[in-house]
Order: sequence, then C-alpha cells, then structure tokens
Amino acid sequence: MEYGPAPESTKEAQAWLEQHGRQFGLFIDNAWTAPGELFASINPADAAKLADLTQATSADVDRAVAAARAAQPGWQALGGHGRAKVMYALARLLQKHSRLFAVLETLDNGKTIRETRDVDLPLAARHFYYHAGWAQLQAEEFADYRAVGVVGQIVPWNFPLLMLSWKIAPALAAGNTVVFKPAEFTSLTALLFAEICVQAGVPAGVVNIVTGDGSVGEAIVKHEGIDKLAFTGSTEVGRLIRQATAGSGKKLSLELGGKSPFIVFEDADLDAAVEGLVDSIWFNQGQVCCAGSRLLVQESVQDKFLAKLRARMDKLTLGSPLDKSMDIGALVDPVQKQRIEGLVQSARDEGCTVYQPACELPADGSWFPPTLITGASTSAAVAQAEIFGPVLVAMSFRTPPEVVQLANNTVYGLAACVWTENISLALDVAPQIKAGVVWINTANQFDAACGFGGYRESGFGREGGREGMYEYLTALSEDARPAAPVVEAKAKAKAAVPAGSPFGIDRTAKMYIGGKQARPDGAYSRAIHGADGSFIAEVGEGSRKDIRNAVEAAHKAGGWTKATSHNRAQVLYYIAENLAARGEEFAARIAAMTGTKNAEKEVQASIERLFYYAAWADKYDGLAHQPPMHGITVALNEPLGVIGIVCPNESPLLGFISLVAPAIALGNRVVVVPSEAHPLSATDLYQVFDTSDLPGGVVNIVTGSADELARTLATHSDIDAVWRHDGSAEGCAEVERLSAASLKRTWVGGAKGRDWYSTAQAGGRAVLAHASQVKNIWIPYGV
Ligand code: NAI
Repeated sequence: MEYGPAPESTKEAQAWLEQHGRQFGLFIDNAWTAPGELFASINPADAAKLADLTQATSADVDRAVAAARAAQPGWQALGGHGRAKVMYALARLLQKHSRLFAVLETLDNGKTIRETRDVDLPLAARHFYYHAGWAQLQAEEFADYRAVGVVGQIVPWNFPLLMLSWKIAPALAAGNTVVFKPAEFTSLTALLFAEICVQAGVPAGVVNIVTGDGSVGEAIVKHEGIDKLAFTGSTEVGRLIRQATAGSGKKLSLELGGKSPFIVFEDADLDAAVEGLVDSIWFNQGQVCCAGSRLLVQESVQDKFLAKLRARMDKLTLGSPLDKSMDIGALVDPVQKQRIEGLVQSARDEGCTVYQPACELPADGSWFPPTLITGASTSAAVAQAEIFGPVLVAMSFRTPPEVVQLANNTVYGLAACVWTENISLALDVAPQIKAGVVWINTANQFDAACGFGGYRESGFGREGGREGMYEYLTALSEDARPAAPVVEAKAKAKAAVPAGSPFGIDRTAKMYIGGKQARPDGAYSRAIHGADGSFIAEVGEGSRKDIRNAVEAAHKAGGWTKATSHNRAQVLYYIAENLAARGEEFAARIAAMTGTKNAEKEVQASIERLFYYAAWADKYDGLAHQPPMHGITVALNEPLGVIGIVCPNESPLLGFISLVAPAIALGNRVVVVPSEAHPLSATDLYQVFDTSDLPGGVVNIVTGSADELARTLATHSDIDAVWRHDGSAEGCAEVERLSAASLKRTWVGGAKGRDWYSTAQAGGRAVLAHASQVKNIWIPYGV
C-alpha cells in the first residue's frame, strides 16, 4: 500500500524562530548576548535559511568560561538533591516541549521526524532523568570523588540535541559547569535548550552555549580555564584535540568515528537481520558514528540475504523529513554529499558493483539514495573509511574465526552487530570483537544506563552508565598527591664499564623478553650506581628494537587474556610468595640503590600490593543493565591489550609492582621500563617471575632511558596504552602528544608524584579503570 504525504506542522518551530527575529546571540550566564558576526543555519531538505547565528569570538569563549567558573562552586554546593531537582525539571521540560524540539531538529538537520520524535527526544529526556538519579546518589555512590570543575563540550551535527544531553546531563549531575559548542550546521535545538534551562531553574553560568565553527572549538580546547574536554566528532579532530591538550592536565574523553561490522551468520533470522540492517545503516541517512556500514554475511546465505536486502531497499521511502512516512531524509549539508559521492565513485572506479534503488531525489537540498556496494576488496577506501552516509559495503566470510578477523580489520572499534539464533556462537564472538558496543540480534540501541564509547581509534572514555560519570569526576586522592621527588639517574646512556670494576661483565642484568633474559640489541650497557655513588651493576641500554621484540612477545602471550581471573590471581599470589621468600635480598638491593632506611617496608608493601591486586583480579566484575528493552545489557570490563609502562624512580620495587600488578591482574600484557635510576629491583624479579608460573611474554622488561623508551612506546602502533609515572612533566606531555597518532589510552602522572604506599593513591577502582575498557553487549530476549 502506498502512503500519502503526512507532513508534521512546523508552525510552532517557525514561530519560535520568528520570536527571536531569526537571529541569535550566544547564551552566557543565562542571558543572550547581542548577535555578533553572523552565519546562516540552513534547512538541508530545501536549502532555505532558518536563522542567522553568531560566530563566537575568543573573547566570547573567555566570558563563557568565566561565567562557568564563577557558577561552579554554587552549583556544587546546591548538593545532590538540589541538582537532581533541576535536572528532573529539565527532563520534564524536554518531554513537555518534545514536539517543538523534534520539528526544530528535523528542520535544522534534515533527519526524519519519525526519528527525532521517536528516538532523539525520548532518549534525550531519559538521559536527564537517569542523571538526575546520579546527582541524587552522588554523595553515597561517589563519596571519594569531586566534580572536575569547568567542562568544555564540543559535539557534531548528526544527533544535535541527543549529543547535547549525553554531554550536559552527566556533567551537571557531577557538579560541573559547562561551556558547550554545538556543530555549526545544527545549533538551533541547543539554543532552544538554553531557554528551557532558564525555565528549569538552572542557575546562571552553569550552562553556557557558544555557537560557531571549528575555531570556537579550538578556543575552548586551548582555554586554560577548562578542566575537562568532552568531544564527539571526527577522528581527525579528535587527534588534534589530543595533541592540543597534551601535558595540560585537562581530562579528556573522545567519541570518534567508526566502521562497524554487521555480521550475519547463516542461521540468523534473515528477515529480522534485514530490518536490523535498515536500522543500522539507513538510520539518520547513515550519518551515525556506530552505523553498521560493513556487512559481513556468511557465504552460504550471501545471495539469499542480498536479494532480500535489495528488495527491502527498493521499498525505502526517501523525501521530506517532515513527512511521517519517510524512512530517509536529507544529508546535513552539500559538503557531506560531495564526500559520499566521491567515495562511491572510487568504488565504481575500482570495478565494484553499486546498487541503488530507483528513487527520485528532491530537486533542492542534499540527498543521497540508499546504496549497496559489493565486490570491494578489504583494503578499498569504501571498506576502510568512515563514509558517514547511507552506503553499505557487503563482503562474505566462511567461518567464525574468519569473521572475527574481518570484523577487527579496521582502525576503529566503536560498535558491532552479531546476528545468529545460536546464543553460544553470539556470546563467543562478541568478546572477540574489538568494539565498545556489541548488539546481538539488534542494532543501534542506546540507553543512558549503558555506557557508549570506543576501542582503538574510535576514541576513549564512555558516555552513560556509571563509567560515564567517572569522566566528570576527580578522585579526592588525586588532590593529595605530593610533588614528585627528584631522583637523578646516576648514569648517562652508553656509559662504558667503569675501569677497574670489581664485578666484571657477569654483573650485567639483561632485558626480560618473552620470559627469557635477552641481551640488549644495541649491545650497550649503562652503569647503575648506589646511593653512595659506588658502582653496583650494569643494565642493558634498551633500544627501539628491544621494545619491538618485547611488544611482539607481549602479543604472543594472548593466552593470559583468555586465562581465568582465578588463574591470574593465583599467579599474582605466587609472585608475592616468592618475593617474600627473597625479601631480605630485595630489601638489601633497594637500600644499596636508594640509600633508604625503609627498604624492608617497601618489600612488605610490594607483597601486600600483589595480594591486593590478586584479590581484585576476580572481583572487578562488570554489570548487568536492564535498559528499557526486553533483554539485558552485559557490561564487561575487558583488558586493553598491551600496555607500555614507564615506572617511577622513587620506591623502585613498590612503584613497579603497583603499576604492573593491576595491569596483568585484569589480563593485559605489559612492556615495562623500570626506574631509570634504580632498575635493579625489576631485573632481580626475573627469577621470581620464572618460578611463579607467570607465562612468558606477559611481563617484559626493557631497561634504559625513560625518555627514549617512552617515546618508542608512545609511537608504537601495536601498543594499546602507555602509562608514565616518573614525575617528568615534559615526558608525560610528550607521551600524550605522540599517542595521538593511534589514539592510545594514556595514564600519566605529570609533574606530581604519588605516595606509592597509599592504597588510595596507588589502588582502587580508578587504577583498575585505567587498565580496562567497558564493552556493553546488548542481548534482547524473545523468539
Ligand atoms: P568535525 O569533527 O570537524 O566536527 C565536530 C565538531 O567539532 C563541530 O562542532 C566542529 O565545529 C568542531 N571542530 C572542528 N574542528 C575543530 C577543532 N580543530 N577543534 C575543536 N573543535 C573543532 O566533523 P565534521 O567536519 O562536521 O564532519 C566530517 C566527518 O567527520 C564526517 O564526514 C564523518 O566522517 C566524521 N564525523 C563523525 C562523527 C561521529 O559521531 N563519529 C560526527 C561528525 C562527523
């Protein structure tokens, strides 16, 4: 049956624009500034101008940050219940004005009213309700944390109001104040939101909204008054932001692009999978970071599935986004259309088959038909690049291991779909896919209670859920951290064996790679001197090549990640036991190197720390969420993979153990650069490891220059995270800057030290969170 047009009325939305004279200033300190230099906001469906908006200047950003700073203590002092009431009012007002918001969003963005009405608005309101709850519970559930302070938030144009709620709701719940920048194509619903903030009783300065292009974003990113940045957008800009904030101490969360696989096994309900695919790649014209843009279908059902898919594509309706019966609306801007056309043309040029249903595109505005590309190679641009349009690339596979390998053949890791009627297969495959969200027999489901965010170059940090709250909180123990003690490395690189050394070459500690002692590749050594200046021993001068070998060994030790947490705990206890058996020897070594009188205490504390993380190994469990769906969402704490660790110089044994133990307790493998000044506590551990059933390659140790080796770790493409805690502010900044290339997770101590004896500063969930990332697996029920 054909449906006639059923357009939604735009009367109220147009009246609201008129009421503002179709010209907007910025929203700072609960007041509108006079409009400044203007740019047009265009309806992408018919190219008509909706309003003129202000391009904020850096002075405007200064004013917004100052207003947020001034308002922050008062907002925090309002208390959890006070904030919860305001946030509840915001949720209610979003619902009360939901149709106005939905229509305005459709006018501004070009997405269909069906989506803004049924998806964007309900989810945005839910986000404020959910986070009103966290505000209420903050004192109880996050007692050891405080608000970060002033938060800068920058969002893209694909879900303007929804992204606003994902950003602003957790920030406010935690007691922060906000400087928010919508995307230049789609600022209108943020400006309408500003008005409801006033109605809801949000105090002046708590929410500030500045409009404009990327230069406004840059001004926010660089602003010294900003304590945390939250960004959603392209991986390219995410990288720039990582570089720009390196060494600034600003907290950072990045939600970036994706190229998410949509896997269909031969036993899947194929008709349901086709509908899932429609929701996955044609939802919001494919302008979705987690769009299922790579179809991987089992070879045995490929032809049948693609035939069903083409038939379904033929029935997709494309046209006025305000028409309630439309499936596909307009693209946000002609520039996106050109980009998509270019990529589809590249596929044609490479001989791929491009299927598009015959559909008439409206004359004005930016439109692109639903598109299916077959015959592309795995390395083709359309198979690797984020197209961000209604374009699906289909490939086939034969076996589950092959599909896991294909699914992970991308620099991204945001989401994945797995379709099969075999739950064992689904739950076997889901953890093997490197992605922050896996939907089983469903697609593009979101809920405020379930964290969302990526692995790899899809960014880091999570939005939603308990884990999302931590992005907007600072542990109180961070405030108590002492200044890093200055410990000078006693020898420079490439120092020769001191003349007349009484020890000879057998006092040279080797590297520890793949469970074996290895000579440094460069055949250089450095002398290590004791606190009294006397020569103690030599260690190898690690090089780029040694790190490469260590990373390779760490990758080969993947069995550790698959081992049970019980098994990992046993190994940690065993290391503790064997360390205790040689406690005196370790204490003597520490005393000789550092001159401390506390050497025995340090050994005891190290043994206790091993017990501590052995205890955590099988207790850092995930969660089972019950979002508004018939089913559950299982949030797993997964290891990051291979972590490069640069240890502190103070407490050379305890510092080493305090960083290595949590990492391996959760299933990571590590490449460790021990204290540059006092590395012998680490090199003495080789025999302890060898007698403790620690599989080779789980812990690899490369001695040498912290600066040089940290640089190599940060630029290595096969390392997932780098931690640096040796008190070098410059070195830490460099790690953050260099890690931007492959968007590694970083945990750096900066110029501050850490009291390694304090469990609050060197333990707890905050440390475990650095060693893991959350994957949410959505499992709907029903037959
Ligand atoms: P973008 O990443 O440039 O823009 C996102 C936001 O960042 C906007 O508010 C923009 O004004 C701001 N921005 C731009 N440059 C900035 C800078 N140097 N510093 C701080 N803020 C800056 O994304 P754009 O240009 O709108 O889209 C380009 C491509 O990015 C798309 O084709 C798509 O592939 C990808 N994209 C991915 C999104 C996602 O959710 N993963 C969302 C939007 C775009």
